Amino acid sequence: MPIVVVVGGQWGDEGKGRIVDLLARKARVVARYSAGNNAGHTIVNDQGEFKLHVVPAGILYPDKTCVIGNGVAVDPEVLLGEIDGLQSKGVDTSRLVLSDRAQVIMPWHCELDRLDELARGDKAIGTTGKGVGPCFVDKVARRGIRVADLLRAEDLQPRVEAALAYHNKVITAVYGGEPLDADRCCAAYLEFGKRLAPFVGDVQDIVLTAHRRGDYVLLEGAQGSLLDLDHGTYPYVTSSVPSSSSSGAGLGVGIGPTDIQRVVGVFKSYCTRVGNGPFPTELFDDTATMLRDHGKEDGRGEYGTTTGRPRRIGWLDAVAARYSVRFNGLSAVALTRLDVLDNVPTIKICTAYDLDGETVETLPARQSVLERVKPIYEELPGWQTQTTEVRNFDDLPRQAQAFIRRVEQLIECPVDVISVGPSREQAIIVNPIF
Ligand code: IMP
Ligand code: MG
Repeated sequence: MPIVVVVGGQWGDEGKGRIVDLLARKARVVARYSAGNNAGHTIVNDQGEFKLHVVPAGILYPDKTCVIGNGVAVDPEVLLGEIDGLQSKGVDTSRLVLSDRAQVIMPWHCELDRLDELARGDKAIGTTGKGVGPCFVDKVARRGIRVADLLRAEDLQPRVEAALAYHNKVITAVYGGEPLDADRCCAAYLEFGKRLAPFVGDVQDIVLTAHRRGDYVLLEGAQGSLLDLDHGTYPYVTSSVPSSSSSGAGLGVGIGPTDIQRVVGVFKSYCTRVGNGPFPTELFDDTATMLRDHGKEDGRGEYGTTTGRPRRIGWLDAVAARYSVRFNGLSAVALTRLDVLDNVPTIKICTAYDLDGETVETLPARQSVLERVKPIYEELPGWQTQTTEVRNFDDLPRQAQAFIRRVEQLIECPVDVISVGPSREQAIIVNPIF
C-alpha cells in the first residue's frame, strides 16, 4: 500500500493538520518527519479542539501508530506537555513512538533563537522563538543532542558539557548574555529522558513493517514549502534539515525515495504568511481584514497556532504555488478554506509577476527582486453563496468550480480534495487519495 507524503504548499498554515486528519482515517501509521514545535495544527473533531505542535495529528484516532521521526527537532518539555494535555482529554497516547535519532531542542537553542533575532534588528526573520533554527544549526555542526543521549547520564553529560563549552562563549562574548549551567541542564533533561523512555522506539522499522504488511502510511510535513531551506524565500525560511518539502520525508523517517508513492500538497484558496520575508500578493486593505477574521469568533481566524500572531494575508500566488508543485513533485493538491472566499465579490489569482515592465513566470531567487515584483492578477467572479454544506464538486457554485479549474491549470496539478469548513466531514473528495 502506498506511503503518502502530505506537505504544505505555501508558507505554512494551509490546513495540513485538517487534511492529515481526514486522510489518517485509512492510514495505519502517521509520522512527522521534519521541523519542530514551531509547527502548529488545529484540529476540530467530536472530542473537541486540539492544538498540536509535535505529536502527529493521527493521535486523535484510536488505532493509529503515531511516529515522531529522526528528522524532527523535539523539545522534550513541550512534547511531554502535549502528551499530558492529550491524556487529560482522554486521548490514548500509548501509540506514540519517538525516534531515538531525533535532535533535542536544548535551553541554549531557545536562548540563541531570541538573541539571534534581537541581533538581526529590523532584518529579523520573525521566527517562532522555539529554538528550532539553532537546534538544526547544532545538528549540522555535529554538536547536537539526540533523544538517545537523554536516556543515560554517561551519554548526556559529556555532550552537554561540550555543547555549552562552545555556546556559553557565544552567549556571553558575542551577545553579552548569561551562561547556562551544564549540571542543571543535565539533571533536567535526564528527568525528561526518563519520562520519554517508554515512547522511544525504532521508527524505520515501524514505517517499513506497516508498508510491507500492506497498510497505508502517512508522512506529515511541517511548515510550508516556501519556508523550505533550499527552495523557500531564503533567508526568510525555517532551518529544518531534512528539508520540510517532500524530498525530506524519506530521510526524516529512515526510508528511501522508492518507498514513497504519492505526494499531496495542501494549499489555501488564498495565501498567508507569518513572520517576515517577501510576499508578493500581500494585501493591506479591507479584504485582508475580512479574510483574516473570517470565523475568528470560533478560533478559526488567521492567527498563528503557535505564537498567536496575526497572519499576513494575500491572494493566491500561482507563480509560487506552481514552483512548489514542481519541487515537491506533487501528485495531488488539497485546496483548503474555499468557504472563506464565499462572500468575496471578485477573487484574484496572481498568474505572473511584473519586474520593471518585464513579465516573470518563475519565482526569483534574489530576495531584493522578490520584494520588488508586482503581482499580475487575473480576476474571477466570486460565488457569494455559502459552500460549507457542499459535499460534491458538481454541487459547488459554477464560479467556485471555475476558480478551482483555473487553479489546477495554473499550478499544473489536479485538486483532489477541497475543504469547506473546519470539521472532518466538511470536505469534497474529487478523487480519493487512498
Ligand atoms: P522558525 O521556524 O521558528 O525558525 O521560524 C522561521 C520562519 O518560519 C518564520 O517566518 C516563522 O514564522 C515561520 N514558521 C515556522 N513554523 C511555522 C508554521 O508552522 N507555520 C507558519 N510559519 C511558520
Ligand atoms: Mg500551523
